[in-house]
Amino acid sequence: MIMKKYAIATLILLSACTPRLGKTSVDKLVDAMTVEEKVRTVVGTFTDIATPPPVAPGVKNRADYPGSGENTVVSRNQVPGAAGDGYAVPRLGIPAVVYADGPAGVRIDPRRDGDEATYFCTAFPSGTLLASSWDPEAVEQVGEAIGDEAHRYGVDILLAPGMNLQRNPLTGRNFEYYSEDPLVAGITAASYIKGVQSQGVGTSVKHFAANNQELYRNGINEIISERALRELYFRGFELAVKEAQPWTVMSSYNKINGVYASEDRWLLTDILRNEWGFDGFVMSDWFGADDPVEQMKAGNDLLMPGTPYQIEELLEAVKSGALPMDVLDTNVKRILQIVAKTPRAQGIVYKNDPDLEAHAAVSRRIAAEGMVLLHNDGVLPLKTGGKVALFGNFGYDTQPGGSGSGYVNRAYKVTLDKGLEDAGFQLVAPLAEAYRNHISAEKALLPEEYFWVVPTASEKKVSIDEVRAAARETDLAVVTIGRMSGEGGDLSAAEGDYFLSAEEKQLLKDVRSNFKKVVVVLNTGAPLELTGVAELSDAILLAWLPGQEAGHAITDILSGAVNPSGKLPVSLASHYSDIPSSRNFGVSEGELNVVRYEEDLMVGYRYFTTAGVRPLYPFGFGLSYTTFEYSGFRFDGKDFVLTVKNTGPVPGREVVQIYVEKPALSEGRPVRELCAYGKTDVIDPGSSQEIRIQALRPSIDPLAQWTTEGWKRASGIYRFHAAASSEDLRVSINLTL
Ligand code: BGC
Repeated sequence: MIMKKYAIATLILLSACTPRLGKTSVDKLVDAMTVEEKVRTVVGTFTDIATPPPVAPGVKNRADYPGSGENTVVSRNQVPGAAGDGYAVPRLGIPAVVYADGPAGVRIDPRRDGDEATYFCTAFPSGTLLASSWDPEAVEQVGEAIGDEAHRYGVDILLAPGMNLQRNPLTGRNFEYYSEDPLVAGITAASYIKGVQSQGVGTSVKHFAANNQELYRNGINEIISERALRELYFRGFELAVKEAQPWTVMSSYNKINGVYASEDRWLLTDILRNEWGFDGFVMSDWFGADDPVEQMKAGNDLLMPGTPYQIEELLEAVKSGALPMDVLDTNVKRILQIVAKTPRAQGIVYKNDPDLEAHAAVSRRIAAEGMVLLHNDGVLPLKTGGKVALFGNFGYDTQPGGSGSGYVNRAYKVTLDKGLEDAGFQLVAPLAEAYRNHISAEKALLPEEYFWVVPTASEKKVSIDEVRAAARETDLAVVTIGRMSGEGGDLSAAEGDYFLSAEEKQLLKDVRSNFKKVVVVLNTGAPLELTGVAELSDAILLAWLPGQEAGHAITDILSGAVNPSGKLPVSLASHYSDIPSSRNFGVSEGELNVVRYEEDLMVGYRYFTTAGVRPLYPFGFGLSYTTFEYSGFRFDGKDFVLTVKNTGPVPGREVVQIYVEKPALSEGRPVRELCAYGKTDVIDPGSSQEIRIQALRPSIDPLAQWTTEGWKRASGIYRFHAAASSEDLRVSINLTL
């Protein structure tokens, strides 16, 4: 009896002494780990290699990643379809954390072998649309809904948001990103992160930094001045990291000034951690870079998705002393500190039961908030119940989002034809039937949609007789023009891609000459060159990639059920050649895999306003069905304050932008820059709202400039403009600082 008691007491004592994640300090946990456990902790365990990214010329081709799965200790399919898993050390209570994409919603497989249940997620609008809402609260709600789905489906860390600057309109992943302006990108990302993390799961803000093209993304060497890095390419990340504390950061594939981002100690340790105070861990992008030891030393703590080769290399480096143990220990500690916070570590049982209906409503609401009305001769809003001749494949096969890691396996998508019909519009039936038949016949020959490739039918050719026949039934035509966007490739400055195709132009002309009212709806991830389209139409709605409720949300705007309040987070140039980075996009002339950011700070509106070149639709521009008047602009020592009056016929919301002209501390600076913004509530016709716009941020000083001595504020006179767009300055004040 005494012996038994003694044995039990010893057991209790032993288990109390055994280090456990969450109960023991991470220092002690790391002390208790073997070298192999430490190495495996810094390497993901998902070895199912579907698509290693293409590498740049001259870069070691590692398409032969060993994918044997031999290092997989736990099942790599904890949540089928997730992007990767961490390493578990059960004896220390360390679980294998699940990482899943992505920016527009959780990306996991919707069906599982031998399981009747479905695991669909909500497809929210793409990043650019979220940013076009200029509404941090709405973005936060999207984040909350995505975080909730992640949590309920057993995902610990969401691989989002994507927030690289939209340097050039051809960048293939622009749709996942937010803006050409770092303040808009940073605020949008911070709201998204706060929303997701409020649900108890982590985020991985990506891709740090300057992931601005898909061409040779794995090895492209970007030559960028420190001033442009600090003021543009890092600035949004700085804001998001400081204001929202993402649990993790994902480093980018590319090199910056000769060094891979994931091997860059200056980037990941000196700036991200020491300057900005980031205290989570950094993971590589999938298969990013190729020197695991340098990655560890730089502060890239986790290598994803993980290969046996990386394990071997790291074990070898520890043995030889090339990787000091204290470096590895630091990497492991940073990971464990975050792992301890995950739902999996907390023993939370996930139930796979998100409220998809409620989230669809959130998706629809923000989709309508972020669409941008570019042109309207008064034809919009449409009277419901009317008859519509709907042209263009994208009217019947509307695209909710892009492909690649930003894809979402949603339960359904609402196409525009369906959205119009649901709202009581009638379609010209023979035309609708011809389109539907064409699309289904073509799709029958194409492979099934799958996240990496979303096949779309070739655009139906429309004869002039079809146009005339439709015009006999109604005087209203809606012409959709669309482009799929996706990871893995950029757009090209060619007809049918960034430019309209000859057929699209011809269709617009034919429709214009046969219909009294012509509305163009753009269903694209990134803007196209739209010069001449306004002349051939009465209204243009930039609907972006609006998520699974696309058709309903577009119809909400067309019918006036929602008054548009989205504004452009990017400039739309009249001509591609007007954009300074067009001379250095992809690779710089005569170079193999180098791109020189010669435009420096002259990105987007910073260039257009400074050079006096008029964009077709300026940054910050967007129409409403009502009009607004600004007055009483002042700075109260803390906030910008002004009165916005609705001077038009219907209730609406207005995005007010504050631009600053700073005394310049160096050459080649933009004349004005966005320094704050706000969005009113819904204001009734004839009513006013006094809006307060946060002038000083806790994270960055929008008035500072990067100089050779670091951030500096110039002293002198600053001119502030309250504006409806970067080209529409309404009221201004001077302040001496
Ligand atoms: C993308 C990341 C993504 C990862 C995991 C990579 O190809 O660049 O954005 O999170 O895959 O799917």
